[in-house]
Amino acid sequence: MINPHEAVIETQRLRVRPPQSNDAQAMFAMAADWEVAKQTASVPHPYELTHAQEWIGRVRDPANGVRWVVERRSDEMLVGVISIGGTGIDDFGYWFGRAHWGQGYATEAATAVADFAIDTLEVSEVKAGVFIENLASARVLEKAGFTEGETFERTLDHRGGLRQIRRFSRAQKDKT
Ligand SMILES: CC(C)(COP(=O)(O)OP(=O)(O)OC[C@H]1O[C@@H](n2cnc3c(N)ncnc32)[C@H](O)[C@@H]1OP(=O)(O)O)[C@@H](O)C(=O)NCCC(=O)NCCS
Repeated sequence: MINPHEAVIETQRLRVRPPQSNDAQAMFAMAADWEVAKQTASVPHPYELTHAQEWIGRVRDPANGVRWVVERRSDEMLVGVISIGGTGIDDFGYWFGRAHWGQGYATEAATAVADFAIDTLEVSEVKAGVFIENLASARVLEKAGFTEGETFERTLDHRGGLRQIRRFSRAQKDKT
């Protein structure tokens, strides 16, 4: 039986691996950017180094689901973060450093993690919630094989109050 907290998922260009304490500085440098945080329900802002350290420190808490960092295989640079479960708003979450956007990394990592969840962990359904204006993330999910469901509202005081959220999901039964 695989322990998802120890799982390493390799794609053509990326390695999705368990976070380590020395990842905190690189996480901090990317997540402190409001352009990254504002599209997430859970990244604090302002973001301090201690937020990254705490996030990594809680990585094995089952209440937090499974958390990975994403590194580029060619130079081992951290490019983003991805997780399933425990985000509070929906199951599947990710963010990438702004310097790394537009290169297909989110699609590559999201596809691999959703495949892993469904094929290996046998999760029946992976769900994601996307702020209505976040067209890039909606596109990532479409490319990763998710289908769109209803749009719902949620009050998130730290993200400006009432927000409209598009639901996407990929289910075991959708396997071809
Ligand atoms: C959303 C995010 C993860 C995308 O990462 P990325 O590595 O740039 O994504 P990819 O390169 O794999 O794909 C992005 C797709 O969105 C498209 N896109 C980007 N900006 C867009 C926009 N404003 N409108 C429409 N499509 C857009 C790109 O063209 C690409 O689609 P394509 O391959 O069909 O051309 C990244 O921008 C990010 O971390 N944002 C902040 C945090 C966040 O939004 N997290 C997700 C919360 S649900």
